[in-house]
Parts: sequence; structure tokens; C-alpha cells
Amino acid sequence: MCGIVGFVGNRGASSLLVEGLSKLEYRGYDSAGVAIIEDGEVKVKKCKGRLVNLEERLNKEPISGTIGIGHTRWATHGEPSDVNSHPHTNSEVTISVVHNGIIENYLKLREWLTSKGYTFHSETDTEVIPNLVDYYYEGDLVEAVMKATSKMEGSYAIGVICKNEPNKLVAVRKDSPLIVGLGKDEFFIASDIPAVLNHTRDVYFLEDKEFVVITRDGVTLLNEDGEKVDKEVFHVTWNADAAEKGGYEDFMLKEIHEQPKAIKDTMTSRIGMDHSISIDKINISREQLDNIDRVYIVACGTAYNAGIVGKYVIEKLAKIPVEVDIASEFRYRDPLITEKTLIIVVSQSGETADTLAVLRDGKKKGARVLAITNVVGSSVSREANDVLYTWAGPEIAVASTKAYVTQLIAMYILGLYFAELKGTLTKEQIDEIKKEMLTLPNKAEEVLKHKETLQKFASKTYMERDMFFLGRGLDFAVSTEGSLKLKEISYIHSEAYAGGELKHGTIALIEPGTVVIATVTQESLSDKMMSNVKEVVTRGAKVMAIAFEGDEDVHKSVDSVIYIPRTHELLAPVLSVIPLQLIAYYMAKQKGCDVDKPRNLAKSVTVE
Ligand code: M6R
Repeated sequence: MCGIVGFVGNRGASSLLVEGLSKLEYRGYDSAGVAIIEDGEVKVKKCKGRLVNLEERLNKEPISGTIGIGHTRWATHGEPSDVNSHPHTNSEVTISVVHNGIIENYLKLREWLTSKGYTFHSETDTEVIPNLVDYYYEGDLVEAVMKATSKMEGSYAIGVICKNEPNKLVAVRKDSPLIVGLGKDEFFIASDIPAVLNHTRDVYFLEDKEFVVITRDGVTLLNEDGEKVDKEVFHVTWNADAAEKGGYEDFMLKEIHEQPKAIKDTMTSRIGMDHSISIDKINISREQLDNIDRVYIVACGTAYNAGIVGKYVIEKLAKIPVEVDIASEFRYRDPLITEKTLIIVVSQSGETADTLAVLRDGKKKGARVLAITNVVGSSVSREANDVLYTWAGPEIAVASTKAYVTQLIAMYILGLYFAELKGTLTKEQIDEIKKEMLTLPNKAEEVLKHKETLQKFASKTYMERDMFFLGRGLDFAVSTEGSLKLKEISYIHSEAYAGGELKHGTIALIEPGTVVIATVTQESLSDKMMSNVKEVVTRGAKVMAIAFEGDEDVHKSVDSVIYIPRTHELLAPVLSVIPLQLIAYYMAKQKGCDVDKPRNLAKSVTVE
């Protein structure tokens, strides 16, 4: 759960590595460092804290050299500190390594290397790697890295440089992402595409246990047996600006505003009034669908919250029973998986370790795995049987926003596709939903106009210690996401509760002044939900409601209301989540929090 970069070329590596790292800070930001070959020596500069600390250090103590590696860290083994920062080296500082992942058998390896006379200085798992490479080094860096990795268990994407082979960078991955950027007479490695996009759009996606050997003359790809591998160059079509703030104060605010476009892009070519629902190249026949006896939606965090909506949607539209589960729970609970199971994994990054493990285990047991992901070329996209991309564009802020709404759109598309196939809805019913879906981008724009009201609300409530999000049905599902957003960026404790569940304990937490956000868009449940609202109002809660325009009575029972454009109630979460995201955003800003890089978090959780 870190970002790694590497550069081989004729330009100064230092600034290029730092620039690449600045695009990967979302992956971790508690320390950063670079190692560069300067005058035939490996020179390392690294320090605790944000990348800016490293930049200041490099300004004072520059390193020249045109081959190097860099790292931005999210600490797992060993607290954030200068010594635990990457790159790590062997004691003689002849070999240097950056690593994203976890070496699970590092204690054993460390003990073994210690018995061979090696010494260690950090608490990290990574430090065994340069020492292992050193142990196996007999004049051939590639061979030494191959031998070292054959002893390593766990996940890794590593970049390695060596004083004795000063014109070479060797990299390899297993269960952690790694791409190779192909520039003109210069080459890059990186954990993610934005790190190289200012310099090249042509990349290779490395597969597990594929090695890349980079010199100024070119790139050689090898499999674990040392045989050459041919690979297709992937041309990135999205713009580098997509990964910039574009005038917004933070990526999160920019990404919230990009939602209308993201919704539209995700529907394009799949939903249209003049054709049937299309799900790209995925081909599921009626017979195959009839053969599926259970559907699991499995994911983590926000993607899991989108899965909760997915369950309601697919069950309602296609009448197929769906279970939704958290990937880290699902993978260890021995779920019932057979050839008749369809597993839908949802992951913005396509690299989340637990989600990926569910995918792999599911495939092993014969299930068909369909992935909903935002990242082309991600592990999930490459390994699933079928992929439905969410076209949200790069999501940089740690708090997921536009990915969530596009995941919802993907759920509607799947629900309608299954319904069409099974005949559970008439053409008129399907057309009605499709027609309404096509209005969502404009309606989302309308919702964004409430931001000033929400900012004012946040300025009055940001000192709260606890907040509650209430809803029933799909309004409860969206409340789970509102609550997660608030917690992760503002550090205010919050919980989402199903309105009907309140009386079973939670209502004891409501006291005079408690802030409650009640979402009330589900017509069939609105009377019951309003009764729940009254129950908390009676006990002194200050309630803000999110309701459809036209439901004017809602304001009589609460302190304030955000009215959102009316839509089909199944589609309501796409619009009702936007005020919840903005509440979290403005509360966090009022508190002075770094919304793009909340404490203790990283964007993709590529380790368990
Ligand atoms: O990349 P993924 O969608 O698999 O990530 C899953 C979660 O880690 C992610 O949604 C996380 O909960 C976000 N920080 C939420 O805003």
C-alpha cells in the first residue's frame, strides 16, 4: 500500500522521481525517499512525512544521476520514521530497493540472513529484500533478483538498482500493481499510470512474476524462468489533466463535481432508448443466467456500500437472490461457491487485496466472476471472467465519490440486463427506468447547486462528536456511504442505522442536540421513515432531511431539508449521496482536515 516509481534515461532522475511520487501520494504519504546512481554510487535520501519534506531535503542536498527509484509509504511494518522509509539498502549500500506490498515470511528471512552475518537497521519487512539480493549477487543483478524473489512470500512490486550495474533497473511484481512507461529513449516504472502520464502514454502492465530489465537501450520482459516475454503496449487515452486538480481546492471537491460526467460516461453505449442494454463484451445467455443459483456481491469500503444498493437493485429488477458481503469477511467464512455461483466483485482500484483474493478463490471453485472496476489493466480487470468498467476517470482523493455513483450505475445496468434477459420486466418498465437514468447527469448537476446551504450547515455542526445517518431501504443503503464519508475525512464518529431498527437500541444514543441526517426518498417507506424521524426529533435531535422536490411536508417535521430532483426511487441513491458527500467534505474542511489525504488511510489497500 505504497507507491513506487523508477526512471532510466538521460535526464536528471531526482525531479522526475519526485514528480512521479507526487501522483502516487494517494497510495500512502507518511514518508518518502529516492535512491539514485550518482557517479557510480547508490545515493539515498529519504525522510518521514509528506513528499514536500523530501523535496526540501533534495533541494538542499541534490543528487544528480539519471537512473533511480522512488517510494511514498503507507506504513505497515514499523512506524513512519526516517529509518523505516524506503528505499532500503544492504549494509554496503550497493543495492537499493523500493517495495509496495508485504513480505509475509520476512521474519524467517531476516533470521536466516542474520545467521549469515547480515545486519538490519529498520523494523520493515522490506529490508530483507536488498540483503537477499546481495546474498545471491554474483555479478548478475537479474539473476540475483530472481533468486531473491523465489524465497519471498507475500505481495510485492519492487524496483532494484545496484552500484555494480549502474545502467540498469530491475523490477518485478506479485500481487501488487506495476506498470512500465515507454518514453522516447527513457523508461519508467510506477505503481499507477498517473505517475508517468506527463512523459508517456504507452505502458506495459506487468503480470505476476514478470520481471522487467530496463537500460537506456530498452526494456526486456522476462518470465520467472528467465524467458523473454512479448507483450502488447497499452496506449492510455485519458488526459493527464484528469489526474490534476483543475482549479479546485482539493481532488475530492473536483471529483464530487465530476459526477454528472462520470454518470454519463458510464451509461454511454450501454443504456440508450434505441437499443437493448449492452454490457460491453460480456456475454451471458439466458440459459447461463437460469443456471446461476446465487449471486454474491463482494467488495470493501465504499465499493461494498455500492454493493448494498446493488443487492436491492438486482433483486428488485431481475428477481435473482443476491447476498452482499465484505471481502475480508467473505474470504474466510468458507462461503458456498459452486459452478452455479456468480460473484460480482466491485473495486475502484481493481487492486484491493481482499477483493482480489475473493476473485481468485471464486474462480478456483468454479464460479463465474464479474468485476466492476474503474481501472483498465488492474489486477481485478485482468483476472475476472468478465469486466464492466465504470468510466469515472482517475479517482485520486482517498475518499471515494465519483467511483461510488458509477458503481451504482453499473448495478442498474446489470440489473436491467438481467431483467431483460429473464423477462422479469416488460419493455415499457425497462424503458421507463432507462429514460429516467438518462436524466441523472443533469439532475446531479442540480443537486450540486445545494453546496452553499450544505457548507453553512457544516459550519454550524463541524464541532459535533457524533452524527447519525438514518434511512430505510435504499435510503439506508446510501446512509452507510454518507456515514463512511464523514468518518474517514472529518474524524467525526458516525453511524448509519435503518430507521426501523432504532427502537432496538440505538435510540438510546439520541439526546438533545444530536445531529441526524435522514434520507427520505423511498415513497413506499416514507410514512414509516417520517415516524422514525419524529421519534428522534421528540428526543431532541436536530434533523436535516434529504428528500425529493415536491415532498414539501417533510420540512414540517425537521430543522432543514435539502430537496433533490425527483427521480425513480430505485435511482435515488445516485442523487441523494451527493449532499452526504458534500456534508462530509465541508465538515472536514471546517475542521481543517486534509480531505484528500485523511490520517491513517491510503487509496488502495493492496495488503491484507
Ligand atoms: O479500490 P477499491 O474500490 O477496492 O477500494 C475499496 C475501499 O478501500 C475504498 O472504497 C475505501 O473505503 C475508500 N476510502 C472509501 O472512501
